[in-house]
Amino acid sequence: MSLDAGTAVTMPRVLPFHRALPRLVRDPVTELSKMGTEAGGQVVRIDLGPFRPYLVSHPDHVQQVLKTDWTNFVREGMFWRPLRRVVGHSILGEGEGWASSRKILQPLFTARYTASLGEDMADIIAECIQELDDYARTGRLVDGGYQMTTIVNQAVIKVLFGGRITREASERLAPEFATCATSIGFRLLFPFVPYSVKVPGDRAFLAAVKKIDEIVYPLIEQARQEDTGSKEVVSALIRARIEQDGEADLRQVRDDLVSIYGAASETTAMSLTWLWSVLHEHPDVNARLREEIDEVVGEGPVRPEHVAKLRYLRMVLQELLRLYPSGWIIPRQTVADTEIGGVPIRAGSQVLVSPYATHRLGEFWERPLEFDPERWAPEKAENAERRHRYSYFPFGAGPHVCLGQHLFYLEAPLVIANLLSRYRPVLTNPKRLTPVPGASVRPKEKVMLRLEPVRG
Ligand code: HEM
Repeated sequence: MSLDAGTAVTMPRVLPFHRALPRLVRDPVTELSKMGTEAGGQVVRIDLGPFRPYLVSHPDHVQQVLKTDWTNFVREGMFWRPLRRVVGHSILGEGEGWASSRKILQPLFTARYTASLGEDMADIIAECIQELDDYARTGRLVDGGYQMTTIVNQAVIKVLFGGRITREASERLAPEFATCATSIGFRLLFPFVPYSVKVPGDRAFLAAVKKIDEIVYPLIEQARQEDTGSKEVVSALIRARIEQDGEADLRQVRDDLVSIYGAASETTAMSLTWLWSVLHEHPDVNARLREEIDEVVGEGPVRPEHVAKLRYLRMVLQELLRLYPSGWIIPRQTVADTEIGGVPIRAGSQVLVSPYATHRLGEFWERPLEFDPERWAPEKAENAERRHRYSYFPFGAGPHVCLGQHLFYLEAPLVIANLLSRYRPVLTNPKRLTPVPGASVRPKEKVMLRLEPVRG
């Protein structure tokens, strides 16, 4: 629509520079979400000098941006540019390249296909967690964030590359991705800084991308040469590309694999890291979770068929993703002039959709800041019916909705059930965690755990 069409307009709430900047520098994730909740879900314009994004948190507006009017809100602009340097033009892109990747990848992440990878994933997760026995025996502390990242990385690498990658190579690959995810933080927070200006993290970021390529390209080449009909994503992706395009462009396959890896690992690992702090603060939830795992899994090993029976664990995860959605912000750029909730928005504007803010809106959630898995009890189905469809969207919504939901709800329970059936993790540095932005929201503080063996 044209902004000059004479329709009734609402002025956005504007957060002026002198108030917005100090808040965002101090505690960006919490403050950004507060800006949304203080406005009761109205569109807020945040004045950061050269950069003046609109913050969107009302579920109706979320629906408009991500679903009904999604072609006018694209993944371009300052926020996506830093990511583009690692993911290229792929499933995390936009336009034709994205559509072609989405069509090819979607069948590889259905509930059924994901389940077929479950046995392999359960094995590698169990193997990684057994390696923690040494910590449990000696009482050495475990860095929760680091361990969750390591375990999730191994699991995702297994899904992508199956037996094609050695444990040694996947252990080299994992930290490079971790570096990408953390070193991009400055660029995401201050996206208006031009690339000609070097900022903290740039050098580490580019070095990590180079190392990722050195490991990933030979694996793709190998998979292309020896098509064994195996299920892992790299082979299935190459087969699908050849079927669709007549050939598998190595660069395209690399971009999709790296994008999936990036989307899958950091988000899952960071959610699992928050969990230990949440369980520490909620001993009742912790006790009930342990009880369920004991009943369903016993002494283990945890197998994929256990997951569907771990109902309370699923509720805990749903609530975890409400309060700590690792995809905390979903940035878009407008193509044409438009309006959201009556607020006129010019073409080329940056729009920030924030699950972190929407999930905390008092207008849509009772006791929004309270961690309460009971909200998700299946017997309280009427809660879900009453809820606005777009008041909860940890996996995004619309055509770009996350491809990895089934994978997450298989992988995360496998990790948690494996850990809790072997150990009692005790948080040794309890402190309210401060969320900081990276590619996912992550805790600023370390989560240091002592693992007490469950059985002697
Ligand atoms: C806690 C775990 C996860 C969270 C919170 C999460 C969140 C999200 C969100 C918010 C989006 C939407 C992005 C946008 O609209 O621009 C998204 C997209 C995506 N996610 Fe996830 N994700 C998670 C796990 C995974 C996993 C395990 C995979 C593995 C396959 C994955 C793969 C993807 C892909 C490929 C997209 C892009 C889809 C598209 O644009 O068509 N995610 N995710």
